Amino acid sequence: MKLRITLFSSILLATLAEAKTEKYRLIWNGSPESSITVGWCQISGSDAKVFYRRVDSGDKSSAHKIDRQTTHLDLNHCFARLSGLEANTLYEFIIKDSDSQSARFTFLTAPAKEASFSVVAGGDSRNHRKARQRANRAVAKIRPLFVCFGGDMINKPTPKEWAEWLDDWQLTTSKAGHMTPIIAARGNHEGPNDIHSIFDTPHSGDYYAVDFGAGFLRVYTLNSNIVRAGKQGEWLTQDLAAHVETKWKLAHYHHPFRPHQSNKAEQNAQYNAWASAFFKYGMNLAIECDSHVVKRTWPVRPSNEPGSDQGFIRDDEFGTTFIGEGCWGAPLRPADDPKEWTRDHGSFNQVNWICVTPRWISARSVMVDSIEKSAAIDPKFPFESPRGMKIWEPENGHSAWIFLNDKEERPTIDPATLTRLTITAAHPEFTESTTVRLVANPEISSENLEFRYTTDGSQPTAKSTLYKAPFNVTETATIRAAIFRTGKALSTAKSITVTKIDAAR
Ligand SMILES: [Fe+2]
Repeated sequence: MKLRITLFSSILLATLAEAKTEKYRLIWNGSPESSITVGWCQISGSDAKVFYRRVDSGDKSSAHKIDRQTTHLDLNHCFARLSGLEANTLYEFIIKDSDSQSARFTFLTAPAKEASFSVVAGGDSRNHRKARQRANRAVAKIRPLFVCFGGDMINKPTPKEWAEWLDDWQLTTSKAGHMTPIIAARGNHEGPNDIHSIFDTPHSGDYYAVDFGAGFLRVYTLNSNIVRAGKQGEWLTQDLAAHVETKWKLAHYHHPFRPHQSNKAEQNAQYNAWASAFFKYGMNLAIECDSHVVKRTWPVRPSNEPGSDQGFIRDDEFGTTFIGEGCWGAPLRPADDPKEWTRDHGSFNQVNWICVTPRWISARSVMVDSIEKSAAIDPKFPFESPRGMKIWEPENGHSAWIFLNDKEERPTIDPATLTRLTITAAHPEFTESTTVRLVANPEISSENLEFRYTTDGSQPTAKSTLYKAPFNVTETATIRAAIFRTGKALSTAKSITVTKIDAAR
């Protein structure tokens, strides 16, 4: 709800009262060219409103009441969802209530068409507070259009930890009061309602997409802490299918498909639910977190063909580039699990600085330990690293580059390259009987998966005997099997010969 008022100038000039609002944040969860959510914590006072207008416009300010108020972990979170804003426009705002008024802040709305801008992405800030604060200062110096934060903000979802995190987040605001919107994802350290309660995400499932520049860039926020297939997987596939024409697609979420830290588990269920859709619909860049190491990969597509590693193979033309894995202020771990398709890896505190243009995307790592020595980026040259900013320089280049692919047809993945059949016999030589077992690789969805086999060595077809459970063989036989889905072979056939031997021999 908007009210036109004439007080903005006098409010700006008024002496600041003691702060009764704090822990400010700007949030984007839809239509960033025309809307933004102002979030804060209210300590006391009533009738809080956000007063906002275009900078240097001479406009009367508009007033917007609180749309949502929620007490979560002892903090009173307020959200004012501003809408009807002009694209690519600098706004100023204050929050005023019966007891106080905030400092003046500014923000920039997103462009409504193709444009060039930068994004900061990363995650895992849970308990190394000094590093977290430096990474936040890096945001203020880079001045990106927005931040993608991939979860594990805090270690334990307590009032104290969230209060400290939100206080530290204020360091992402520049000295002049310029704020950067956040797009927040959930990690495994947050409580199930934290992200929705603190960042006003569209629903408590915390997966959603935000579109920039009318089909220019679509940012997918995924939740790797709930079922990845199911409703979330269906939504992702449908949304990607509905946005094939979108030029660039970027995803961020907490758990890496294939962690570059040896103590971290492979996320097979996630690979199963998302990897093929990423490839099929052209996900350009994915930012992963959780491992507290640094990695960047070559573009990869799902595959189990020769040359692949852990279900992916390099594909410079059509693959997805993965970066990560979460070094925003969490205990660093050794990057000790590189893959065939890893471009480089390391272990240091960093944020990912991503530059998006109509022709290419680049991703650099800003090493934040010395960020105090860095100048701020000149807004006139938003992609140039300023004096004193330390950028990671792997041997194969400081940037991962992603170029627009003009090819009309994306190749489809042959599902057979993803499916491996293992066929085993408890005793290849037996006297009475032996048990034969068929298993598919765990990355493959079991949905409608059928194992069909013959026992005379002939090629299995979609009409051969259906395997339901391990079965016994009592005579010498060659069992040949393959995996089918809705009548189509997914794997090549494999065989095993079991031999009955004479017990008296
Ligand atoms: Fe994590």
